[in-house]
Amino acid sequence: MTDKVIKLADLNKTAFVLSDEERHEVEHALTHYPDGRAASIDALKAVQKHRGWVPDEAIPVLAEAIGISAADLEGVATFYSLIFRRPVGRHVIKVCDSISCHLTGYDELRGELVKQLGINYGQTTKDGRYTLLPICCLGACDRGATMMIDDDLHGPVEPKDVAGILGTYS
Ligand code: FES
Repeated sequence: MTDKVIKLADLNKTAFVLSDEERHEVEHALTHYPDGRAASIDALKAVQKHRGWVPDEAIPVLAEAIGISAADLEGVATFYSLIFRRPVGRHVIKVCDSISCHLTGYDELRGELVKQLGINYGQTTKDGRYTLLPICCLGACDRGATMMIDDDLHGPVEPKDVAGILGTYS
């Protein structure tokens, strides 16, 4: 039984290989922090940047690269909502659901996105173009209602603006 577990672990380890770019970025992150634990989010982001998400198989490989346990890194990856643990669309739409945006049109914005995309939170459009997620305050409360597509902040966004904004992301 133990042999089986070890073999499976080895299989996972060899199934996922950091690319040269990813390894370089992880090593670069390590130079900015006092230890691997502090560099863990940047290390996860390095993989996500190149693959769009962080597969389970990446966790033990990344953990070894930064010198912490896979369990510790899994804990960080699970806690941090902007680390995606399953495939996402080419563009990730994050809609602010915090108080200021609630007061400035969140419900209407969310409703328009759901209508136009045909998906709800946590889902990806059939064509793989968009994933829709909620997010807490984007730090632009004076621009509510806000949303972020990839790294672009949009706000204030009214329902009539949604089609035009979506049209700029292929
Ligand atoms: S509450 Fe939406 S950006 Fe702050």
